[in-house]
Amino acid sequence: SAHLAGEAQRILRDNDTGRFIKPSPKQYPHQWNWDAALIALGLATFDLERARAEVRTLLEGQWKDGMVPHIVYHDGPSDYFPTPDFWRSERSAAAPSVPTSGLTQPPVLATAVRAIVERDPDQGAALTFLREVYGKLLAWHRWFYAARDPEGSGVVALIHPWESGMDNSTRFTGALARLTPTDVPTFRRRDQQHVAADERPVAGDYERFMYLIGLYRDWRWDPEALFERAPFLIRDAFTTAILHRANEDLLELATSLGEPTEEIAGWLARTRAGYSALWDEAAGLYFDLDLRAGAPVREDTCATFLALYAGLASEAQAARLAEHLRDPDAYAPDARTRFYLPSAAKSSPYFEPRRYWRGPVWLNINWFLVQGLRRYGYAALAERVVNDTLSLVARSGFAEYYDPRDGSPCGARDFSWSAALVLELL
Ligand code: DGY
Repeated sequence: SAHLAGEAQRILRDNDTGRFIKPSPKQYPHQWNWDAALIALGLATFDLERARAEVRTLLEGQWKDGMVPHIVYHDGPSDYFPTPDFWRSERSAAAPSVPTSGLTQPPVLATAVRAIVERDPDQGAALTFLREVYGKLLAWHRWFYAARDPEGSGVVALIHPWESGMDNSTRFTGALARLTPTDVPTFRRRDQQHVAADERPVAGDYERFMYLIGLYRDWRWDPEALFERAPFLIRDAFTTAILHRANEDLLELATSLGEPTEEIAGWLARTRAGYSALWDEAAGLYFDLDLRAGAPVREDTCATFLALYAGLASEAQAARLAEHLRDPDAYAPDARTRFYLPSAAKSSPYFEPRRYWRGPVWLNINWFLVQGLRRYGYAALAERVVNDTLSLVARSGFAEYYDPRDGSPCGARDFSWSAALVLELL
């Protein structure tokens, strides 16, 4: 494990551009939102100053309305597509001076900041840093509730699959299939230069990703127009769980600064109430709500377990989820798969064990799951997930994701958050 830790630190150093850490050397050469947060969490195990710098550079991309975008292009274009100009984010009055995408991503950042602050032996320096970033974190969370839950349901909605970070998850398949792309902006995919095509989203999905961006940039990324008109609008159990957990952390941070806590407490109460509506008692799972279809998304994916990470499940609901984790037809290792946690249930007709978010194991999901299982007292199951995670890395390196059948590496290699989260788990 000293060897793994050394390797993990080396990858983070090698992917460091000096200003930000690339998610991987070739496939993702810019700064991504939840990547940066998870990377900062791993950095906080050995280099607090570098962890703080990663948070600061991500926040340079924050929009004037509070949104923290999903990609920040600090260094101009590269061989990555979408290029900075594709987003036309400058059409929004809220866009910052650095080029960014127009979408957001799951808000892990406040959780990472709490770890950075609490691990610092110099609490004076920690609070100075916290004072610098606290208002920005608060503004982002406020933006989430205002822009993506204007109806006050407590569950935030996504306007694009990329906002979940789980682009081609099986839970978006139905909603994407209902779209008819028209006037799609001209584009050329570049995500298959460094990664095999059968490990990436299919052409029909990718075309719909572009179609949605084309619409939204025409609407100048105006949050009101987006919520009213987006043909893809899904109240997302996954992002909402991450936001809820981040609000718990933000509340602790507010308390240590002596800042008011009522607004955050209000969000926690609203989400706690609204989230329970996502629970399907017959299935024993949390389902997203597709606002455009007016129906729950009855797909079984790893997203359902995030309620544990956020503390949103009752003891009885947690027991159902733990039971589901032990079911070999769903997620448990058996003759067909050998590692926790496939990103989609094996029973799904859409399950594809090497295609991005349709089956492969992702280490950020394993990390969320481990935190959640420990929170509810499922220590043995948590240890099993930790062991699977470390054995995947020992056998296949720090891959972007892994085939759950044999643990072989998929996607990009030398992937920064895989390295960061192994440091967290060791
Ligand atoms: C990609 O380029 O596929 C990324 O997932 C977008 O964030």
